[in-house]
Amino acid sequence: MSKYNFDEIIPREGTNCIKYDARRQIFKSAGVLPLWVADTDFRTPDFITDAIKKRTEHEIFGYTFKPDSYYNSIIYWMQRRHNWTVKKEWISSSPGVVAGLTLAVEAFSNPGDGVVVQPPVYFPFFSCVKGTGRKMVQNPLKIENGRYTFDFHDLKSKITKETRLLMLCNPQNPGGMVWKAEELEELSSICIDNNIIIISDEIHSDLIYKGNRHIPVSMVSEETAQNSVVLMAPSKTFNVAGLATSVVIIPDRKKFELYEKALNLGHLGMGNIFGSVALEAAYTYGDEWLEELLEYLWNNFLYLENFFKNNLPKVKVMKPEATYLIWLDFREYGMDDSELTKFIVRKAKVGLNNGARFGIEGDGWMRLNIGCPRSILTEGLERLANAFSGI
Ligand SMILES: Cc1ncc(COP(=O)(O)O)c(C=O)c1O
Repeated sequence: MSKYNFDEIIPREGTNCIKYDARRQIFKSAGVLPLWVADTDFRTPDFITDAIKKRTEHEIFGYTFKPDSYYNSIIYWMQRRHNWTVKKEWISSSPGVVAGLTLAVEAFSNPGDGVVVQPPVYFPFFSCVKGTGRKMVQNPLKIENGRYTFDFHDLKSKITKETRLLMLCNPQNPGGMVWKAEELEELSSICIDNNIIIISDEIHSDLIYKGNRHIPVSMVSEETAQNSVVLMAPSKTFNVAGLATSVVIIPDRKKFELYEKALNLGHLGMGNIFGSVALEAAYTYGDEWLEELLEYLWNNFLYLENFFKNNLPKVKVMKPEATYLIWLDFREYGMDDSELTKFIVRKAKVGLNNGARFGIEGDGWMRLNIGCPRSILTEGLERLANAFSGI
């Protein structure tokens, strides 16, 4: 018996939420069904909202520090969920994972240094590199047996002595891959041999489907741990992205201090009271809710997969190993990126993420978010099927 009701429709309009309230601006139409930006339409669980409400009862929200219970919630969560033993002195923070990625790029490299990115990938990776004046080294993923994998040959051929960092997306957005031990081992060994630090965005690491195991990159080996920075957050899992609170885990003391220096320069280390309270509640009480969420999401995926097979067989669905983001290959329709985007927005009236934003490798692909009640997903899929029928 499920305890939580993921089928409930919760109207989000009028809350300034990007997914719904920015539709007119982004898609030029408020009638688009939004299956795009990566938050979910599920209620943040009661153990988190209760903790926030309780904190509001004390009506002073001045400067605070993070208590031991906050650090312990992270340590025990990492142990329970990933079998990863994390020490308190490795734990830093950032006001959001993208902020942490940018701070890490600034802390561990200099303008003009090379930073490896592996497209198609979550597009702020590109701006973290370009916006900080670093040089982007593109090492595209390749598709093998229906899933993305690393192209080590290409990586080795592109590394120069100016290459300082590699930005890993683990699990991968948009393909939903959970990188396997052997993939991470080889990647890490190339990085260690070439003095390249791994910055690993692991924001989706709680959203792992059955049969897969998330490996924080630092668990690959002691040497890898000393050579990597891992960013995680409760934001995707528990739908609290608006609280802008993430965890940055850095086992190597020197790197930890360099990162903290960058963080504290902007007075960013304190975070915000409600983000810390929410994180602690999520990581303390979140297991049961998360198991139910994963089951609901997986059933949404099976529903979607079946729907495409029966109604839109030209669209090829990449099977996710993690995340509620589904990567769809529309290339058989022969439309270029702009045609496809216009068609889906204007004809189907569905808001998806345009694949080319994740790199040219995503041209002809779209990303669809299944983090919503089944009835919303059904409506979106039916709109797509009606629009594409007959072409
Ligand atoms: C891989 C990845 N990293 C980071 C983020 C955003 O993180 P934040 O909102 O904490 O900056 C997302 C959101 O979709 C994501 O998919």
